[in-house]
Amino acid sequence: MSELTVILEIISFVFLTCLMIKRIFQNRNKTYPDGPFGFPIIGHLPLFGNYPPKTFMKWWNSYGDVFSIRLGSWNTVVVNGYDAVKAAAEHPDDVFSGRPNFFSMDIYRKSVKEVTFAFSNFSPVYLKQKQLTSKALRSFTYKRPEIIEDLVTNEANAFADIIVKKYNRKFGPIELDVQTFATRIVYQFLYGRSKTVDIKTIIKSLEEVNELVGSGSLLNALPWLRFVMPRKIDKFVKCLVRSYDIAKKQIREHNETFTVGNVRDVADAIIATDVDADESRDKNVLTRQRLNLTLGDLQEAGVDTTNKTLSWLFLFMAEFPEIQERVFMEIRNIVGTERNVLLKDKPDLVYTNAVILEVMRIVTPVPFMLPHFSMKNAKLQGFDVDKDTVVIFNIYSVHHEEKFWGDPKNFRPERFLSDGKNLDQEKCNHVFAFGLGRRRCIGEEFAKMTLFLSFTTAIQKCKIIKPAGENLDLTPVPGLVYSPRPYNVLVQERY
Ligand code: HEM
Repeated sequence: MSELTVILEIISFVFLTCLMIKRIFQNRNKTYPDGPFGFPIIGHLPLFGNYPPKTFMKWWNSYGDVFSIRLGSWNTVVVNGYDAVKAAAEHPDDVFSGRPNFFSMDIYRKSVKEVTFAFSNFSPVYLKQKQLTSKALRSFTYKRPEIIEDLVTNEANAFADIIVKKYNRKFGPIELDVQTFATRIVYQFLYGRSKTVDIKTIIKSLEEVNELVGSGSLLNALPWLRFVMPRKIDKFVKCLVRSYDIAKKQIREHNETFTVGNVRDVADAIIATDVDADESRDKNVLTRQRLNLTLGDLQEAGVDTTNKTLSWLFLFMAEFPEIQERVFMEIRNIVGTERNVLLKDKPDLVYTNAVILEVMRIVTPVPFMLPHFSMKNAKLQGFDVDKDTVVIFNIYSVHHEEKFWGDPKNFRPERFLSDGKNLDQEKCNHVFAFGLGRRRCIGEEFAKMTLFLSFTTAIQKCKIIKPAGENLDLTPVPGLVYSPRPYNVLVQERY
């Protein structure tokens, strides 16, 4: 037996003994959720497999709606299925609305030198920041949607022209064009029309961040790995700083040109918002700097999600040409081909809405939301969840629950139609792609408008075609936001 094997056996023995002692003491008056057996030190991460949602579905079947795992040293519970997810995410005391102080989030805070919004723990300051930022976003989505409509349709028309020009004769990958398109929309929404955006830098930064921030990230589970891969950490920090520098530069420029009563974009709306104090060391005070930097979070969270969801929509349309044709026919019959699709057309384009919902359901681009954290000891579905436990909401399980959907593995947009003419509200309410509860996505309304206008404009103008006789690969690449594998299509102009 080699020395290494002996050492590993000793570590395993000590670990298991500690675990048993802990369980014995913990279990006296408490019922903890059960879970699969994991490895010492590293926990369950190596068991996640190539496609974690599939593994989690198996664990859900074996251990029930609430099961426990470990992400390295972090005690973690995974919440599955509609009932349990809804009960936990909408807990009346907001017990599960915190965020863990994961390594990646800690570097975030340290590099940006400010508590970032999306990764801050649940607190009165967080709530105020969310309320004020939502108000700034609503001043466009509800009060002046025509600004978003104009921005997105203009960009979507230009995007359609570009992909037709590039791919009408030979097959090619449209993902980079979709990325550029989504980035331009989010940045112009936040910082104003005709902003020049360094797309390549932004996209590169997002890829790095996507890899390191998710619930299944190796560095979060095993923070000591930073000593093994210091260059990776360095790169990550540089990306973050670069990204937040963009937000800071925009805020400076906006401050110089802002005039009261003329709110041009979200940055202006944030600047025009009152805070508790301009500067303070008190963590319980919402400062000007902290509110301003919410723009960095909107940037980070908005681009990749929108980009990847759109990429998924186009991939599914290429793979299911008869469904794409039905979407096109609905647009042609209701809107025609002479004018742009507008937000007022949304209630009439019922099948198109069903297709968007079905893609978001079957793929679930953010399957585990962002990691949550329990703020105090609490009960969940009869189980005890201690304070400081990481809580993963398995939204993928809600979207693939057989007892509700019947055939969740099939791509079937009609499932969202109640009588062939209307959307089935109960089914719509079972789609949690934007999360739920207090931590629900703050950009949801803007994202829904963008997805609808971009998708319909593109399908109205172009036909997306896959290589004859080929099946496109629909298995996602894991990350914080799950992306499609690279795919090639032909794009033909419709009219
Ligand atoms: C298709 C597009 C999008 C999807 C699928 C999506 C999905 C999500 C999900 C699942 C969460 C996590 C909720 C949780 O942890 O409980 C989230 C949070 C968040 N999203 Fe989105 N999102 C999208 C677009 C956007 C856009 C366009 C913005 C900004 C303009 C945005 C800003 C945020 C922020 C700031 C958070 C953190 C909220 C918090 O911690 O309170 N998202 N999003």
